Order: sequence, then C-alpha cells, then structure tokens
Amino acid sequence: VRVEFLDYDALADYGWSLDDDDLFRKASHADLGAAEHGRLLVEPDESLLEAAENRGFSWPFSCRGGACANCAVYLVEGELSQPANHIMPEELAERGFRLSCNGYPLSDELKVVFNVKHLAELDDLIL
Ligand code: FES
Repeated sequence: VRVEFLDYDALADYGWSLDDDDLFRKASHADLGAAEHGRLLVEPDESLLEAAENRGFSWPFSCRGGACANCAVYLVEGELSQPANHIMPEELAERGFRLSCNGYPLSDELKVVFNVKHLAELDDLIL
C-alpha cells in the first residue's frame, strides 16, 4: 500500500487547510523536507505508524493502543481501519480522523496528514 504523507506543521507554516482540494499538489511544489512530505510503503502486517517508523520516520505517538490520540492522522484519500475500542469520537472519525498506531490501510493508496494532534478538535482527547 502506497502512502503519501504530509506533516501538519507544514500546513500551519504555509497557511494551508485540511480542506484544501489541492493540498498535496501544493505540498509537491513547496520546498518541504523528506520527513515533512513524501511517500512510504505499508506492508500488510504493519500499522500506518509502524510503517512510518520502519521507514525511518518519527511520527507522534504515546500509548500505541488506541487510547491517547497522539498518533492521530487525517485521511485526505483512501481508507484506514479504526478498531472498535478507541478514543476517537464518531464525529471526528466521520470527518476523516484516524489513529495511526492501530490503523491498517484498507485501500491501495492513502493520502494522510500526520501530526494533527495539535488541532483544536483533538486537543481535548490527547492524554
Ligand atoms: Fe495512543 Fe495511537 S498512540 S492512540
């Protein structure tokens, strides 16, 4: 599974929004570092967080068990599984937020914004 990722810090720096239709096109044209924007492959037995770590990236996390939301990502494209016992409220899940620590890709391609834990909506959840 191929994943294109973007660091939420870059959105904050450039004034982009999660709702921008051409968010990833803008990212491609901006001079972002390899850790901020790029692509990685997720193997079948890897969660999204594990895949990022196994490819040498440091994405935020804490509990690794679906209980803290530090690892939250925003899905721009594709689908990531969301296990039953997790901290993410239904309304945020419906808007496309997922946990990367126990989220497994359900589509062949994904576009995700990681490091979204500082968003106001998620701030209350972070333990
Ligand atoms: Fe805590 Fe994913 S690391 S919910």
